[in-house]
Parts: sequence; structure tokens; C-alpha cells
Amino acid sequence: MAKRGENRKTTRDDGTTYDRGPGWPSITALTLAMAVTAVFFNNCSNEFLLRNASDEASLAGLSVCEAEQAKVFYSSIHPFTSNKCASCHVPTGPAGASSAGFADKDKRAAFNAFLLPGFEKFKAYSLNPGHVNGITGPENLAAMDRVEVAWVAAGNSVGCKDAGDSGEFRTKLVDKPIGATTGTAKVIQFNLDNDSDRQGEFGGATFEISIAQNTPVGGAVTYYITRPNVKTAAQGMEVKAISVYINGQKYIEGTTFLGIDRYVPAATTNLILSNATVLKQMPAGVSPNDTIAVSFNHLRLADPPPVTEPTPTPTPPATPLNGALLYANACAGCHGSLAASTKRGRTAQQILTARMTVPSMMDNAAVQALSAAEIGAIADALR
Ligand code: HEC
Ligand code: HEC
Repeated sequence: MAKRGENRKTTRDDGTTYDRGPGWPSITALTLAMAVTAVFFNNCSNEFLLRNASDEASLAGLSVCEAEQAKVFYSSIHPFTSNKCASCHVPTGPAGASSAGFADKDKRAAFNAFLLPGFEKFKAYSLNPGHVNGITGPENLAAMDRVEVAWVAAGNSVGCKDAGDSGEFRTKLVDKPIGATTGTAKVIQFNLDNDSDRQGEFGGATFEISIAQNTPVGGAVTYYITRPNVKTAAQGMEVKAISVYINGQKYIEGTTFLGIDRYVPAATTNLILSNATVLKQMPAGVSPNDTIAVSFNHLRLADPPPVTEPTPTPTPPATPLNGALLYANACAGCHGSLAASTKRGRTAQQILTARMTVPSMMDNAAVQALSAAEIGAIADALR
């Protein structure tokens, strides 16, 4: 059993292990958490299903992978943040003004805000009594363990793992030394033609990603990986679902670049493909020999997707003017019913002259609003 302050490893179904972040739990807390978790899992088969139509609606426009994550966020993370963090993490609160509005009432806005710090940082803060004593701390361990299971499952779901995968256009880039320094982001550049497993297929395009290192309060030293972008040359490229590898190990705790699905036009030099931050905790510390690589589920030169012509809105067929009706509305009040009108046989020109000269017609809004064509139709009805 891990001691307080150590980082703990957890084994997944597939036998790989992952770090569970800064080790806050005391043995009692951990044991308690396990007991509570066991109870939850007895009846959780549809625990992460969405509960209402407005949740479904707020998935609109997300990639398949982001939608998987959003479902977990809506069903279990947002209730937690609304309950515990909303005094500060809303757009008008002390923590929400910049990026951390993940307790916003609007779930979709909250989800977008959540992706910026990302799951790992959210979890680390939640378990850290040094953040807001009494609100964050080991008492949240059971809740964090529960949502982590769901979050990792979303990341491993077909929608995320195989997002955009077209088989033959998968690409893995070589490992590059990181050499990041604290605070300042370093840009790592890959020449796709030379640094990939599909050499020479990318027409001179390059890929860049930024990485910095930082040590959050109470957490392990962490790589902050941001701003993935492709610089294209003479031809555009299709770019889908990017995974990050640190020291050869695929990062799967968070899945934040897997939602990318873009066409990058020719001669693009500064198109950031995702605003998310991937946080890779390094419990054993960082080394100058650490490396970063990425893979794409789909990367290839391609012509721009055909622009679908907007279907022209059909012009409504012109409804023939109804002179009798227009007369009834605008004239009958003063000149009697159409059949008995004192103005039978008047021409359009006479009517136009009358409305410019007869004071009571000049003051009448309905008369003044008539178009020339409508007056023509009235004249026809008066014939
Ligand atoms: C009393 C106000 C307050 C409460 C309550 C609070 N926080 Fe915070 N939190 C802040 C402030 C202020 C910041 C920004 C400064 C910092 O990073 O510490 C912040 C920052 C964070 C960040 C980093 C955000 C980023 O963009 O990097 C996370 C994650 C976080 N809080 C998690 C939580 C969680 C989870 C809860 C609820 C369980 C919570 N906080 C409750 C005030 C609060
Ligand atoms: C607010 C009352 C009012 C309304 C509404 C009104 N009129 Fe008149 N109109 C008058 C008055 C008053 C005269 C002057 C006395 C007369 O000729 O009956 C007049 C005069 C006319 C004249 C010139 C005199 C003539 O007999 O040739 C025409 C033509 C006429 N109206 C047509 C219309 C038509 C068509 C409408 C509807 C588009 C209309 N008016 C709406 C009050 C009105």
C-alpha cells in the first residue's frame, strides 16, 4: 500500500499502469474510497448515461471523442464542480474569469473551460487540501476515483481511440528530446517528411507542439503540452486525432488532442489545432533525456473538401394581390363596402392623387402604407 506523498500506480484492464497523481490519500482514506467505489459500481451500468434532452443538445458540434468526454463531464464531473467549486469557478467568480469556469451553470461552457486545465490538473487540485482547505482534499478521493474510471473509459472508447482512423494514413513521428525549462514553453518541431514513418509523403509540411514543465502545488513535476499545429506547404492536409508519447509511452490518461479533425489549407503557418493542454505528470521527476513524439490517426496531403453549395432558398411564389381585401382593410371604413363604394370606377392615378391631397387620407397610415401595385389592385377591384 502506498504511503502518503508517494505516487501510486494503478493497473488497467489491459495490464498497463498509470500514475494516479500526487499521493494524497492516507491508508484510511484509500481503504474507505475503495469501499465506497465498490458500492457505486454495483449499480452503475448506466450511471454515465445522459439524463435529459438538454444534455444531448449541448453535445452538438463536438467531435465524437469530445462528445464521449462531455457525457462523462455532464453526468458526473459537472454535478461535483457545481456542488463544491461554484463559489469561485464560474465566469464571474475569482477563479473563473480566465479559464477555470468549469462550474458554470451552462454545462457546455463549463465543459469547454474544463478542457483547458484538463482532467489531471482538475483531479490534482481536487485532492489537494492546500488549494481550498475544507473543499478540496482527500475527502474527494472516492469521487475522483469514480470519475477517473469513466474519464479513462471515454478516452479508450472507439470514438476517441480510433477517432478519424483511416488505417493506411496513420503516422507516427520520431522521438525528439524535450529539454523543456520551467515556465517557458519550448516549441518542438518535426519535419514530417523526414521525422515520420511515412517519409517523403508530406510535401515539405512540418508539425510543431509546445511543451513546458511546471510543478503544481502539491503535485508531481508535470509537462504541459499545448498548441499542436501543422505548417503546410504547397498543398493542404487532412489532420485527425493526435496522440502524445512521452519517453515512448502513449499518454492515455487524458485524451485532449484526439478530438482534432481538421482540413489545414495550403500555406498555413499558424493554425493551432486544439486549445487543450495535455498534462503529463512525471512522478519520478524529469530528465534531460526525456523525449516527446506524436502520432496521427490520419494525416495526408489532400485537396480541400468540396464546398457544399448552400441550397438556394426558393423564392416564395408571388401571391396575387387581392384588391378587394386591400380595399376592405384600407378604404371601406370611410368609403363603404366595395360593392357600395362611393369611389367605384376610380383609377389608380386618381387614388394616388387623393392620398397626396385629401387630408384625412394623408393622415391615414394604412392608406399611406400601400404600394403602387396594391393601389393598382384596388383600382382593379373598384372597376
Ligand atoms: C474559494 C475559491 C475557490 C474554490 C471554492 C475553488 N477554487 Fe479552484 N481556484 C481558485 C482560484 C482563485 C484559482 C486560480 C489560482 C490558482 O491556480 O490557484 C483556482 C484554480 C484552480 C485550478 C487550476 C485552473 C487552471 O486553469 O489551471 C483547478 C484545477 C481548480 N482550481 C480546481 C478546483 C476544484 C476542483 C474546486 C472544487 C472542488 C475548486 N477549485 C474550488 C479558487 C477556488
Ligand atoms: C380616413 C378616411 C378615408 C380613408 C381611409 C380613405 N379615404 Fe378616400 N377620401 C376620404 C375623404 C374625406 C375624401 C374627400 C371626400 C370624398 O371625395 O369622399 C376622399 C377622397 C378620395 C378620392 C378622391 C375623390 C373621388 O371621389 O375621386 C378617392 C379616389 C379616394 N378617396 C379613394 C380612396 C381609396 C381607394 C381608399 C383606400 C385606399 C381611400 N380613399 C381611403 C377619406 C378617406
